Amino acid sequence: MEEEKGRVCVTGGTGFIGSWLIMRLLDHGYSVRTTVRSDPEQKRDLSFLTNLPRASERLQIFNADLNNPESFDAAIAGCTGVIHVAAPIDIHGKEPEEVIIQRAVSGTIGILKSCLKSGTVKRVVYTSSASTVHFSGKDVDMLDETFWSDVDYIRKLDIWGKSYKLSKTLAERAALEFAEEHGLDLVTIIPSFVTGPFICPQLAGSVRGTLAMVMGNREEYSMLLNISMVHIDDVARAHIFFT
Ligand SMILES: NC(=O)c1ccc[n+]([C@@H]2O[C@H](COP(=O)([O-])OP(=O)(O)OC[C@H]3O[C@@H](n4cnc5c(N)ncnc54)[C@H](OP(=O)(O)O)[C@@H]3O)[C@@H](O)[C@H]2O)c1
Repeated sequence: MEEEKGRVCVTGGTGFIGSWLIMRLLDHGYSVRTTVRSDPEQKRDLSFLTNLPRASERLQIFNADLNNPESFDAAIAGCTGVIHVAAPIDIHGKEPEEVIIQRAVSGTIGILKSCLKSGTVKRVVYTSSASTVHFSGKDVDMLDETFWSDVDYIRKLDIWGKSYKLSKTLAERAALEFAEEHGLDLVTIIPSFVTGPFICPQLAGSVRGTLAMVMGNREEYSMLLNISMVHIDDVARAHIFFT
C-alpha cells in the first residue's frame, strides 16, 4: 500500500468501472467517497464495496442521482478530486432519447456546479466514451480527441444504443464548455470498449459483449469485428494518473 493521498469522489460506485476504480484508488492510498442511487428498501447489497481492503477506514458511500444533480453536493464537498463515472446507459432504448440526453447533460453539469460550490475540488476527471469521437462520418484509419461524433449523423444511422452515443457526445461537449467558461480543471478520458475482471454484481454490457464467443451470443459476434478494447486496469490507471 502506498502513502495516504487526498480525498476523491467517484460517481457511480455500483458500476463496472466505478467499483474497480474505487478498489484501485483505495490500493493507491486515496480516501474515497462514492455515490450510489438511493435504495429506500435497502435491497441492494453493497458488500462488494464495503468489504474492499481499507474500505472500512477510507470509503464513504453517499446517495445521489443524476436526476437530481444537487444531490451530489454532499459527497463532493471537501474532496480535492472528482471522477465522474456515472451515466444513464439505456442500450435497448427503454426510455425516450431526450430523457437520457437530459439526464446525462444536466447531471454532469450539476456535478461540475457542485465541484465549484465545494471550493475544494482542484480537478475533475470525466469518463467519456469512444462513442463521442467514433461517429464523425469521416472515413479515417485513426481517431483522436480532435474528432467529434456528429449528432445528426448518429441520428441517421441504423445502430443500437443511439441515446447512449448521443448523450455521451452532448454531455462531454457541455462539460468542456462549462469547464472552460468557469475556469474548472477538467480532464476527459475516452475509453473504447472496456473489458476485464469485475467486482460489481451486474455483468456490464461491454464485458458481456467481449465474451460473446465464450457465451455463445451469436447476435453479438459481428460487433467483435468492429470494436477496439481496453483493459479495465488500464482505464483505472488512466483515471488515477489524471486525478
Ligand atoms: N464499459 C465500457 O465499455 C465503457 C466504454 C467507454 C465509456 N464508458 C463509460 O464509463 C462509465 C461507466 O460505465 P460502466 O461500463 O461501468 O457501466 P455500468 O456498470 O452500467 O455503470 C453505470 C453507473 O452509472 C450509474 N447510474 C446510472 N444512472 C444513474 C442515475 N440516474 N443517477 C446516478 N447514477 C446512475 C449506475 O448506477 P446503478 O447501479 O444504480 O444503475 C452505475 O453505477 C459510463 O460513463 C460509460 O459511458 C464505459
